[in-house]
Amino acid sequence: MSQLPADAQLAPTTPVAAREPTARQIGVAVVLSAKGGAGGTLIAAHLAASLAAEKRVLLVDLDLCKGDVAGVLDLHSDRSINLLLDRLDNLDPNLLRGSVEVHPSGLHVLIQPYDLTDLHQISADETTKLLSFLREHYDLVVVDVGSRMDVVSMSAVLTADEILLITTTDVPSLRDAQRVLGLLRHLDVRPTNLRLVLNKVQEGVGVAPADVAAQLHVPIAAVLPADLEACGRVDTRGHLLWELAPHARITRALQSLWKTLRGETDHAAHRHAWPWSHKS
Ligand SMILES: Nc1ncnc2c1ncn2[C@@H]1O[C@H](COP(=O)(O)OP(=O)(O)OP(=O)(O)O)[C@@H](O)[C@H]1O
Ligand SMILES: [Mg+2]
Repeated sequence: MSQLPADAQLAPTTPVAAREPTARQIGVAVVLSAKGGAGGTLIAAHLAASLAAEKRVLLVDLDLCKGDVAGVLDLHSDRSINLLLDRLDNLDPNLLRGSVEVHPSGLHVLIQPYDLTDLHQISADETTKLLSFLREHYDLVVVDVGSRMDVVSMSAVLTADEILLITTTDVPSLRDAQRVLGLLRHLDVRPTNLRLVLNKVQEGVGVAPADVAAQLHVPIAAVLPADLEACGRVDTRGHLLWELAPHARITRALQSLWKTLRGETDHAAHRHAWPWSHKS
């Protein structure tokens, strides 16, 4: 796997405020799964990779229990987020440079070590400190926090400019989504920062997207269809969907998610993302 060249530039050359004045600025986007297996890691990885060609993007695996970003992106390395977690009092760009892996898409990634004996615990303050440091060095930091509601995921959520709550549309998952939303409201997360992504959606199965939106009172950023074949190939081959299934509906819907988040409406992709909207 390619590594960062020694002279690679991590610090932005342009002040944040001077970049892209028209687009809605998102510095840190947190991806949170309502229930385990909802698709948070797959979505976080594709969202981050889709932007990596045009921006400096970092994907952070902050699912400190069993994060699997490395598996989805087929990254194998001794470099990991632990190099930063070990030195939270002395964070600097050189250390960051030595900790990230670089995916062929250009995406920088802080992976979790595969060996569970290497797990680190960090506090709320340490999480905030880490993310504040990382946001200084990238245009966009996408953080996969997994599905646990703990100090790490909640601190990340409170640091975020955008929170994507990923849920499937079966009743137990939606119940969990509702509980998570209750907690986020209790934490005073601004509703404008929060969106739902409905994943693995199948026509006639589970609760209809329009009913989910009405029940949960949260805007829906995307409705991603179930595609076991394409996603199964990601699982086994560790490539991105646009390499493995470029014409699949889920691929197009994922590619348009960023535009939706930035406030740029992608009407064509939106039609693909809501395959049943003509019926409502
Ligand atoms: N739209 C989809 N259609 C079919 N399968 C999907 C879809 N999205 C994700 N998957 C599959 O669901 C499984 C779980 O996905 P993923 O690991 O991204 O979920 P997660 O929310 O990160 O889970 P965890 O709780 O383990 O962190 C994977 O096998 C993935 O390929
Ligand atoms: Mg995950």
